[in-house]
Amino acid sequence: MRLRFVVFGALLVLLAGAAIALRSSLPAAERGRRLALRTGCFACHGPEGTRGTSNPGRADKTVPTFDDDLMMFAKSREEIREWIRDGASAAKKKSETWRRDRERGTLRMPAFGRRLGPRQIDDLVAFVEAAGGRPEPEDSLAARGLERSRALGCNGCHGPGGRLARPNPGSLKGYVPSWDGRDFPELVQDRAEFGQWVEHGVSRRFEQNPLARFFLDRAVLRMPAFEKHLEPGDVDVLWAYVRWLRDRASVGAGRPG
Ligand code: HEC
Ligand code: HEC
Repeated sequence: MRLRFVVFGALLVLLAGAAIALRSSLPAAERGRRLALRTGCFACHGPEGTRGTSNPGRADKTVPTFDDDLMMFAKSREEIREWIRDGASAAKKKSETWRRDRERGTLRMPAFGRRLGPRQIDDLVAFVEAAGGRPEPEDSLAARGLERSRALGCNGCHGPGGRLARPNPGSLKGYVPSWDGRDFPELVQDRAEFGQWVEHGVSRRFEQNPLARFFLDRAVLRMPAFEKHLEPGDVDVLWAYVRWLRDRASVGAGRPG
């Protein structure tokens, strides 16, 4: 009788542990990306908002993108929110020239405030900001790290600025971990482990853990070993960027997913 209790108790503890390990904690930008996909944004703004569709009638000829064009349309997070919620920024709405131009276009930005809740709009704003590289690191080491991450192709799997969590079938959590996500500290305890991930594609701690190895080996996307492609100082500037990103993520409006 008592044994059965012990076994049952142990099972509960195991299940609770598994639930904690498997709990999904997608960053806001990734929730926003997935929502954008379901909400039709990419029909007009192109894949992930990077290639605006042709928009006959408009002076600028194409729908603006979330990366290069964002600067011209939104000066702040609040203005990005206005575009998504109201279909235009308050500043644009005052301009007669803009209103006429908008009328001539084939495609018009819908106001999503009627369809989506404030939290969903927050997630979309986080995604548009990530796609647009906002804000930019003011620290020069961090800025160099961001530049190197693009040159090395980190953004393919980790998203622009390492801020997305794309699906990764077969992996433990089902997505590629972002650099500003809540599970980052489970994977990277310090600068030394960060260096191991980047140079060898895995940390020594994870390599020695059979369960971690099992999931690492069966995932579709695997962290490559960049050792042969790094320039001197790369790990330091990448680490400076990741620290900058995490500092602002903890200060910013993050909320549990
Ligand atoms: C029917 C086409 C269409 C759809 C769907 C659409 N947009 Fe737009 N969007 C536009 C157009 C056109 C503009 C340019 C607005 C203008 O100047 O009138 C724009 C402008 C914007 C801007 C400001 C300019 C920029 O690119 O930075 C943001 C941000 C934006 N849209 C986000 C979104 C998001 C997020 C979604 C999905 C929830 C979405 N849009 C869906 C057509 C669309
Ligand atoms: C081919 C896809 C791919 C590319 C390219 C890639 N990574 Fe990764 N990375 C992964 C995957 C998948 C993991 C997670 C391993 C796991 O499932 O535990 C990971 C994990 C990491 C981690 C562990 C912590 C975390 O939460 O992200 C760091 C740090 C990291 N990558 C940095 C980088 C850097 C820096 C680059 C560019 C130099 C890069 N990655 C390029 C796929 C990639």
